[in-house]
Amino acid sequence: MENFRYFSPTEFVFGKNAEHEVGKLLLKHKATRVLVHFGGGSVVKSGLLDRVENALNKAGLPYVLFGGAVPNPRSGLVYQGIDLARAEHLDFVLAVGGGSAIDSAKAIALGAAYDGDFWDLYDGKAKIVAALPVGVVLTIPAAGSEASASTVITHERGMLKRGVLSDFNRPRFAIVNPELTYTLPPYQTSAGVTDMMSHIFERYLTPSKGVELTDQLCEATLRSIIAAARVVIREPKNYEARATICWAGTIAHNGSLGVGRIEDWSTHGLEHELSALYDVTHGAGLAVMFPAFMKYTVDVDVERYRRLAVTVWGIPDDPADPKRVALAGIAAFEAFLTEIGMPTTFGGIGAKQEDIETLLDKLEINRGKTLGSFMKLTRSDCRNIYLLACK
Ligand code: NZQ
Ligand code: ZN
Repeated sequence: MENFRYFSPTEFVFGKNAEHEVGKLLLKHKATRVLVHFGGGSVVKSGLLDRVENALNKAGLPYVLFGGAVPNPRSGLVYQGIDLARAEHLDFVLAVGGGSAIDSAKAIALGAAYDGDFWDLYDGKAKIVAALPVGVVLTIPAAGSEASASTVITHERGMLKRGVLSDFNRPRFAIVNPELTYTLPPYQTSAGVTDMMSHIFERYLTPSKGVELTDQLCEATLRSIIAAARVVIREPKNYEARATICWAGTIAHNGSLGVGRIEDWSTHGLEHELSALYDVTHGAGLAVMFPAFMKYTVDVDVERYRRLAVTVWGIPDDPADPKRVALAGIAAFEAFLTEIGMPTTFGGIGAKQEDIETLLDKLEINRGKTLGSFMKLTRSDCRNIYLLACK
């Protein structure tokens, strides 16, 4: 096991009607004037925003509504949000929505506390030393941003999609009511499931040794997600299955499954270029890239892939032919993605083979010459993985 430091300050309030507590939680976390940030309107349609406003009014908290965060959130709205936060002397950012509203809220919180262009913090020109506090009312289990140290924004200049990690990005509180996810379109539910599974794979596929505890936690979380996803496809209003997916999405990315391990994240790097270039749903992009990454890297650690196949996908073991077992596990993952309605090839998300060199150029700008730690991927490896994803 590697040495580690783990900081997870987020207070969770989980369950039915939890959103009614938002006013009390904001007061507890010392908010006095709140920026309420949300996405494209699902929270208006569902009535959630009304309930949040009622809770804020009841708590006597002044607030400003600021919507418009799009999937793969953009820098333009972040600049507007920072100006608004400063002009209105707001001291707390409340995100109501999914990863996109939360990441945009985190960026506003960083930018409002930084005397310069917030993008300096994303391209490494400046270090994060402060942020306004952020709270979350979650509406889609997927990105795990409700507890993560990360925020991912696309800058319109060059359409560069970049993340930045800092413990300042970890929300002070997150409200998770699984019933709020009943209205999700099936495609978004499945993309969310794919994203949280990918967050686990990025940690499970590691060169670290002596990580039996987190290996088993990863495997159990994956099994729970797979079982619950199958229920939710048939019964979108199954509370227990929705609740399992909600909490799994959080623990998949709050860092607890990655402690003591070297994490990989090359597949996320490969995917972020797809969502930057084609504006595809992040989870769908991962459904295309992860099977390709797995096929390409199976020989790096056949034993680890064999174990994944047996423990998560229920493939019968065959010690005489571990690679066959490993590949059967990857095939089972791909079949599961198809079962839940996810694309698994470039064609399924409108990506084009002729754009691969453009993807690779941007990948190099964002991530440098090599990628990942499970296998150090060169430009040529990344090209081969993109080609595998074309099929
Ligand atoms: O914008 P609205 O109208 O709210 O609609 C959203 C959006 O169209 C809709 N939606 C959300 N909750 C709903 C709902 N529709 C009906 N009922 C509900 N309850 O779903 C769509 C997707 O929402 P979005 O917030 O984009 O989803 P997600 O949580 O998957 O976030 C994706 C973003 O997070 C980034 C991704 O790259 C992408 O930009 N990530 C952030 C991470 C982090 N901060 O730690 C890690 C991830 O790996 C990821 O990169
Ligand atoms: Zn992700």
